[in-house]
Amino acid sequence: MIESKQSKCVVSDFRIEKLNESHLNIIQKFESYEQDLVDFLIEDAFDNQEKNISTTYLWFDKRSDKLISYITLLADAISLTRGLKDEFISKNVFYKSLPAIKIGRLCVSDNYLRKGIGSLMIKFAMYKVMKINETIGCRFLTLDAIRNDDIRKDSLHFYKKIGFEVLRERQKGTIPMYRDLYYLIEEYKKII
Ligand SMILES: CC(C)(COP(=O)(O)OP(=O)(O)OC[C@H]1O[C@@H](n2cnc3c(N)ncnc32)[C@H](O)[C@@H]1OP(=O)(O)O)[C@@H](O)C(=O)NCCC(=O)NCCS
Repeated sequence: MIESKQSKCVVSDFRIEKLNESHLNIIQKFESYEQDLVDFLIEDAFDNQEKNISTTYLWFDKRSDKLISYITLLADAISLTRGLKDEFISKNVFYKSLPAIKIGRLCVSDNYLRKGIGSLMIKFAMYKVMKINETIGCRFLTLDAIRNDDIRKDSLHFYKKIGFEVLRERQKGTIPMYRDLYYLIEEYKKII
């Protein structure tokens, strides 16, 4: 694991494991300022997975074996709101909704923020969409960004920085966001 603040992590620093029963002790020690995301991991992630509602991936630092972060994915559909609907109509796509994978939860442990791990987990989610797209149509990533009064902890800015767009503005609570992966998927189709 990278120690300095300036350097960023790479995916090969991690071992990624799908959550299973053997992790139930390890997840108890996970720490984040977003307590809801800690509670979800400890109380609901495994149960939801057993019920085929969502799938959670744990990211361990290969060197220390520590649990650093997690991401939860599930199937979704994006409802095309005004601007987006018009954009698709101009491309002769007349559906009300389009297929997506949702990032249900994403959390990096407090001591490992700003090392590029959140960005790596987003790339992992993109990779999953591309893999699904090989057999089942899927085009978007969606999520609900958690707001925080402290701008350094407001995930909306993180998601905007890495290319997500706001689907609907809301005064309170989370903000629905999306990223269209069409061009990325097409690029990869040419080389794989
Ligand atoms: C949001 C979160 C996943 C970002 O993870 P991270 O590993 O710290 O993010 P990265 O290091 O990949 O950041 C990439 C860029 O996004 C920006 N960024 C990251 N977090 C940010 C934040 N909270 N606010 C504004 N910008 C942010 C940074 O500019 C960063 O680039 P830089 O460090 O080169 O300037 C992490 O802060 C987190 O887990 N927070 C608690 C839980 C949470 O809010 N999850 C999202 C729920 S929807």
